[in-house]
Amino acid sequence: MKKEFRLEYEEYASDRELAASDAELLRAARTAIVDAYAPYSRFRVGAAARLVNGAVITGSNQENASFPAGICAERTLLSAAASRFPGVAIDTLAISYSNEQGASDRPISPCGICRQSLQEMEHRTGRPIRLVLGGMEGKIFVLPQAGQLLPLAFTPEELG
Ligand code: THU
Repeated sequence: MKKEFRLEYEEYASDRELAASDAELLRAARTAIVDAYAPYSRFRVGAAARLVNGAVITGSNQENASFPAGICAERTLLSAAASRFPGVAIDTLAISYSNEQGASDRPISPCGICRQSLQEMEHRTGRPIRLVLGGMEGKIFVLPQAGQLLPLAFTPEELG
């Protein structure tokens, strides 16, 4: 039997086309870029999440001279959110970034480890996390559910 996964998302030409709440969250992600510590890659990432209780939490990538010890903006944010507001689900998470020149004009999407962590957060709170992905300018992607980026994911259920 043949099966397939479908990934549906919305594309917007610019942040001017976004719903006001998404545009605001993307602005918060862009602002969070200033907190990034990225002396090695010079690739600065900012993330901002709106929780279902209305709180907005931000995160940024934090690198380390021992490269694997560095952590992405998304997982910095997830840890902060779970520590500040245990058990509170995330409604929407926006991600932005800037390169060495301080610019970016297209979306990036979360790395593989962050996809795993986002999927676990959806699982533990029982709620999908919408993603708003965009650079400092240019087109924006809006995905209804972060877990869709990780088909056939390994989940806590597998542990029995
Ligand atoms: N990075 C993130 O923070 N989030 C992503 O989605 C992709 C990559 C960080 C990790 C590292 O500090 C730098 O960007 C270059 O990979």
